[in-house]
Amino acid sequence: MTATAAVELYGRGLQRAEEQLLLRDDRGSLRPLALGRWLGVATPADEDVLARAVEPVLDIGCGPGRHVLALARRGRLAVGIDISPVAVRVARARGARVVEGCVFARVPGAGSWGSALLLDGNIGIGGRPARLLRHVAALLAPGGHVLVELEPPGRGSAGRRARIEAPGAVSEWFAWCSVDAGAIGAVASDAGLRLTGDGRRRTDGSPASQRGRRASEPRAQHRPTTRRSCRSTTA
Ligand SMILES: C[S@@+](CC[C@H](N)C(=O)[O-])C[C@H]1O[C@@H](n2cnc3c(N)ncnc32)[C@H](O)[C@@H]1O
Repeated sequence: MTATAAVELYGRGLQRAEEQLLLRDDRGSLRPLALGRWLGVATPADEDVLARAVEPVLDIGCGPGRHVLALARRGRLAVGIDISPVAVRVARARGARVVEGCVFARVPGAGSWGSALLLDGNIGIGGRPARLLRHVAALLAPGGHVLVELEPPGRGSAGRRARIEAPGAVSEWFAWCSVDAGAIGAVASDAGLRLTGDGRRRTDGSPASQRGRRASEPRAQHRPTTRRSCRSTTA
């Protein structure tokens, strides 16, 4: 079996609803990718976070665009960025404003975003959260903030290598990580940001998690997460 680019395999999964993709990490965990959730709509828990976003909003790793669409429904100017051409195509077909690209490359409107979103695990992009947050901080307007979804306090942070697995195909390994809400202060300060507001818990009772349970995804996929806001220290 040859290794396929992760972005290609992910794109294939978005197009073939019947095919279950798995995420394996180098610590032995194996769980389904939540494609159904990403192709779905924002949940009430998501809406609670989106209510705190200040326009213009940049949704980093927006996938098929559910958060961009929810913000647009609120009348907020929101643009997504995603590295996956398929995710961008799906998001645009759903009516979301999305650009295709890597967040570490040139990002349109750098220095002008009121809020940047790193939701549903996207603090893991690139595997080095302080580097990602430092980069994202430079995209913000003065006083702008980043809304980040994190692991519940006590769960621990972890850097890891992961790969996507599909019937007959595996991706190359790529860097990913998760960050414990209790550790975000240090990571944010490393990145020149400070924490603002209180963390809010997303609970297992959200429609997203109920939908996931019906699809028989493991509960670990739907554990409660915590969302924090980080603001530029120069604000
Ligand atoms: C966990 S999915 C989340 C999708 C979406 N935020 C949601 O909650 O519905 C992660 C997304 O990040 C995108 N991504 C990964 N690395 C990226 C990068 N370097 N720049 C931009 N997008 C990236 C992937 O293509 C994927 O769509």
